[in-house]
Order: sequence, then C-alpha cells, then structure tokens
Amino acid sequence: MNNISSPGPLGGARKEHDPANWNPDSWRKFPVLQQATYPDPEALEKTLHELSELPPLVTSWEILSLREQIAEAQAGKRFLLQGGDCAESFQECNSSVITNRLKVLLQMSLALVHGLQMPVVRIGRFAGQYAKPRSSDTETRDGVTLPSFRGDLVNAVEFTEEARTPDPQRLIRAHSLSAMTMNFVRSLVDGGFADVHHTEYWNLSWVKHSPLADEFHKLTESLSQSLRFMETITGREIGRLRRVDFFTSHEALHLHYEQAQTRQVPRQWGWFNLGTHFPWIGMRTADLDGAHVEYFRGIRNPLGIKVGPGMTGDWLAQLLETLNPERDAGRIVLIHRMGEDKIEERLPGLINAVHETGSPVLWISDPMHGNTESTRDGTKTRRFWKILREMELAFEIHLDNNSRLGGVHLELTGEDVTECTGGARDLSDEDLKRAYKSTVDPRLNYEQSLEIAMFIVRKHAQNT
Ligand code: PEP
Ligand code: CO
Repeated sequence: MNNISSPGPLGGARKEHDPANWNPDSWRKFPVLQQATYPDPEALEKTLHELSELPPLVTSWEILSLREQIAEAQAGKRFLLQGGDCAESFQECNSSVITNRLKVLLQMSLALVHGLQMPVVRIGRFAGQYAKPRSSDTETRDGVTLPSFRGDLVNAVEFTEEARTPDPQRLIRAHSLSAMTMNFVRSLVDGGFADVHHTEYWNLSWVKHSPLADEFHKLTESLSQSLRFMETITGREIGRLRRVDFFTSHEALHLHYEQAQTRQVPRQWGWFNLGTHFPWIGMRTADLDGAHVEYFRGIRNPLGIKVGPGMTGDWLAQLLETLNPERDAGRIVLIHRMGEDKIEERLPGLINAVHETGSPVLWISDPMHGNTESTRDGTKTRRFWKILREMELAFEIHLDNNSRLGGVHLELTGEDVTECTGGARDLSDEDLKRAYKSTVDPRLNYEQSLEIAMFIVRKHAQNT
C-alpha cells in the first residue's frame, strides 16, 4: 500500500490506519436514532443526490487549520469559544440576526484575548445548526398526534399535518441558507468588520445603556491606545490582530444530510465533511454501536463529543479509541454539560478515565444544557447563576485533577431576548414573557454573554 501522499498543513501524509470498512454511507447498516421518517424515500434519495453535487460550504484547508488551532488549545496556547443559537431558523437567516450574533461573539472573543493574553479559537454554532434531537418522535395535542418538530432542516414548527411532514426540499434550502450565512460572515470579516481598530462596528443598536457595554468600551479604549502606541513605535500595523478566523459548527444529527456533504478532495487522503468545519455528536446519539459514531469515525474533521452525566469512563475511553485511534492532536473536543448539581460528582472520574487512555483531548464546558428547567407556568429557562456556577466548578475541577478547561460552548444570541433569568439586568420569571423568542432552548442575551466572558477572565486570573 502506498501510504505517502503530498503533505498538507497537518501532515497530509496518509496514516497507516485509514478507517477500515468505512464509507460515507456505512452508517446505514447501524442502528440509527433521531432521524426523520420521510413519506417518499425516493424523493429523499433524489434530493440527496442533488445535494451531493452542490458546491461544498468549507474547504479541507480550513478544516485542517482548525485542527491545528485545536491542537494548540490542547497544548494550553489557545482558548476556544463556541457559541450561537440552539437552533437556527430559516426565517432568521437575515442580515441583522447574523451581524448581531457576530458582534456578540467578537466582543466576547476580544474580552477573552485581552484578559487571557492568548489567542482564541472562534467557532460559531451557525451555517447548518438546523436539526434538533427530540425526546419523542411524535407530539399529541387535543387528541391529534403528529411528527415532532425536528428543526427547519426537516419540517416546520406549526402544528398541522402539512407543516410537520418531513420535506426533503428543506435539505437543499438549509444548504443554500448556510452558504449565504457563511458568505456574509466571511465578507464581513474579510472586509474589516472584525478589525480591532474599529470595535465601534460591533455596537448593538438596541443596547442603549448597559454597565457591561461601558466596561467593554473601556477595555477596547485601552486596547486601541496600546495598539496605536505599538504601531507608532514599531512603525507597522499590528496585522495579526486584524485577521480573525471564524469557523462553523453544528450538531451532525441528520446523517443523510451529512453524508451528502462528505467528500474526497484532490491531494488529500480520506474523507471530509465539507458542510461544516466542526461537527459534534450530541448526547443522545453517542452510542458506541450506533450509526452516528460509525459516520464520525471516518471523517477527518475535528470532532466535538457532548459528555453528559450519563457518560461513563469506559464508554468515553472507547469513544476515543474508535474516533481517534491514532491519538492525533487536534482531533477531539470533549464538551461536558453536566449541570451545576452533578458536575462535582461526574466530571473527576471522566477526566481520570481520559488521562488513562493517554489520548489528547480539549475539554470545554457547555454550562447550558445540564441546567435547563421549567418555570411554574411551564416556560423553559436557565438560571444565570447556575450557568456561572457550573463554569466556576468546571475550572476548579480541571485544576484539581491535573487537567485544564480550554474553552466554552454557549447558546447565545445578539437579539434582545429574555430567555435565561438573572444576569446584569437580573431578569425574573416574569420578565421571560417580554421577549422570549426561542422555539427550542433558552439562550443568553448580550449582557449575559459578555458577563460570562468577563467571568472567565477573572477565573483565569485567579488560577494563574
Ligand atoms: C444542543 O447543543 O443543542 C443539544 C441538544 O445538546 P445536548 O446533546 O448536549 O443535549
Ligand atoms: Co440546545
């Protein structure tokens, strides 16, 4: 076997162990969870074929460059920030939602770069986050049972038979809207929107006055002064700070959709999912013998794995063995989401189990998904103090166990929403009624997001 090909950015040389017996569709032979049932399977196959011929959304170079950045984060040289909506919606694929989300992520990442004194890996939960796992295949209202809403990739949220019937054309629409989202983000970033010399571009028009916005402005003011000073004495522009990389991610849940984006590229070995840079496996589909793990083991993208309180050390060790048998750096990000009441009990054992495998991973905290609850009137919310508490415990537990928390995964939006209680404006259960827009999980708003970034900086300062 010829196992040398031209080296790419991350050593493109072919590994001895190309995943054996793997194809983009080999997952179809395994038990699969959380998929939609299409009434016309032929129409689905036809659409998947069409999708597989459309241009990809990302390139293998970008994917390999993200792997390098994650490898640096694993070595303690970067912090990872991943954030965006719980679910994107077709209707909200518009310029203001996209720019507002970008503004929040840029503000957070600048606060982190400045406070942690290290570069940040920026990953959006966007351009493909259109499918959602559900606890039940069907929903019943007033004696009528219909398929559950599985995200805009599959069906529509209205409770009618027509809206809830899975429609393959939505796969094409999702691909197009993801392409538009990425195109716009790339143009903004390349065109100077992300330039740290112009943080005034990142102001959210609806934030009239906020103590945190003031704090952020003070920070950028001092940063631009020192930038100007450096540029004056060196006589050069600080170009490194001008360039910002933005990567995309989504839960790779709908395996037909992911398969159609899985391609080979010239001068690289193996297969890439070119529909996103960073796909992750959700908590409900991380079964070792399941179709999702089978799909993920064969692609070269860096992978996220959600790790909830039900995960065991053995299970996690076997996942690492299956998904990263070569123990490559930059391949695996473990996203723990325990809940502030369970993290102390569950996390230390998992950290030790991973240590014992010797496999390199980046641990990041998702302090959102283990802390979802309902108010008395049945509104889904998250208490900000619990989110902060889980983050705080995450930092401490890693430190106590010879490990390092290297990033954060958040559900957030740049829109003026009241979905999580608490935070700088101390939102109450009553306030949730004012601007609750999510059809799925409650998201952090602008102030709550910035508060998290500043909290991370404070925690980091205490730990170093
Ligand atoms: C999510 O990230 O929106 C999600 C469903 O997460 P989890 O798989 O961790 O529950
Ligand atoms: Co969610």
